[in-house]
Amino acid sequence: MKTQLQQQFNNIYHKPAEKFYFSPGRVNLIGEHIDFNGGLVMPCAINMGTYLLISFNNDNVLRLRSLNFDETLDTPLIDQYQKTGNKWFNYPLGVVNLFLKDGHQIGGIDFLYYGDIPIGSGLSSSASIEIVTAFALNDIFNAGYSKLDLVKMCKRVENEFIGLNSGIMDQFAVAFGQKGKAVLIDCNKLTYEAVNCDLKEYELVIINTNKPRKLAESSYNDRAQDCQNALTMLKKELDINYLCDIDTNKFNAYKHLITDENAAKRAQHVIEENDRVKIATIALNSGDISRFGELMYASHYSLKDKYEVSGKELDSIVEYCESDKNVAGARMTGAGFGGCAIALVKKGKFEAFSTGVIEYYTNHIGYAPSVYNAVISNGVGII
Ligand code: GLA
Repeated sequence: MKTQLQQQFNNIYHKPAEKFYFSPGRVNLIGEHIDFNGGLVMPCAINMGTYLLISFNNDNVLRLRSLNFDETLDTPLIDQYQKTGNKWFNYPLGVVNLFLKDGHQIGGIDFLYYGDIPIGSGLSSSASIEIVTAFALNDIFNAGYSKLDLVKMCKRVENEFIGLNSGIMDQFAVAFGQKGKAVLIDCNKLTYEAVNCDLKEYELVIINTNKPRKLAESSYNDRAQDCQNALTMLKKELDINYLCDIDTNKFNAYKHLITDENAAKRAQHVIEENDRVKIATIALNSGDISRFGELMYASHYSLKDKYEVSGKELDSIVEYCESDKNVAGARMTGAGFGGCAIALVKKGKFEAFSTGVIEYYTNHIGYAPSVYNAVISNGVGII
């Protein structure tokens, strides 16, 4: 891959690349839509991701190219950049912007990106491109940021430059991922623990609905607002900063304070999901994959019925999984509204599963999903 990309870089810029980086994408095993509510989430980095090749130029210009998109950007180095429409280069530009805002001197750079994460599939192609850019700039300009600083910076890019009120999970997962491990993140304290992801006789499979979706245009921000409304109402009697500061029992005792029906449903999902992550961690640590699988299904149905971010595509994948005795558990992963589902499939049964889910989905939805074996991989780095 590196040699092919080097060749492409040469073709485009007529000189060799000087630096190579890679940042993965992620799937979330459990803990959905609770990162921005101070919850616990359990994502892992995957082997699909974003490659970045860099060389310096003496023209004081940023040149941004991607092998995935036709649009290019050539811009002189200025103090501040603005977002341009929905272009892919907003993500790296947002990162450059924050480096500049923080007073770092950035010289002219030629960037070439290549990603093998299907775009808009909910596997965090945007966090991957942000983190790979931030990691590279930190490296080449000796900016001195810690990995956690870079994660926080990229979340700001998403929130302030792109305009999505997302949490910190995706950036955290693609930065701190570890081979064979899930990253259990406490999104309130911003600490994490690498949990051994030993799925025993099962393996992790990703099923992409192939439903086109644009996260920033979806109802993501509306749901986040519902959660905020629920929090404001609970705060009348409870001294809390986040919904996930309370557990399900306490929520049940105070939920009468939430007078808006949507806010109540979202909060119930969030708080129960946070409790599920705690139980799921115990299940994973003790090798109880069937319990872990049950919790995945419970998470899915909560996202479908209470948080309302699933859809017929994701639901039909999960329905199929429930009917297949070789599957221990399945759920939508990421923001929802299309994107991907994940399933725990018995080792050696990938082909049979794949054939079955493709047939079922195609009959119900009218086009085929894509099915991949997920390899749990390391976070961002130099390659
Ligand atoms: C997107 C956001 C994350 C998280 C998930 C849902 O991926 O970027 O911060 O909220 O949705 O869990």
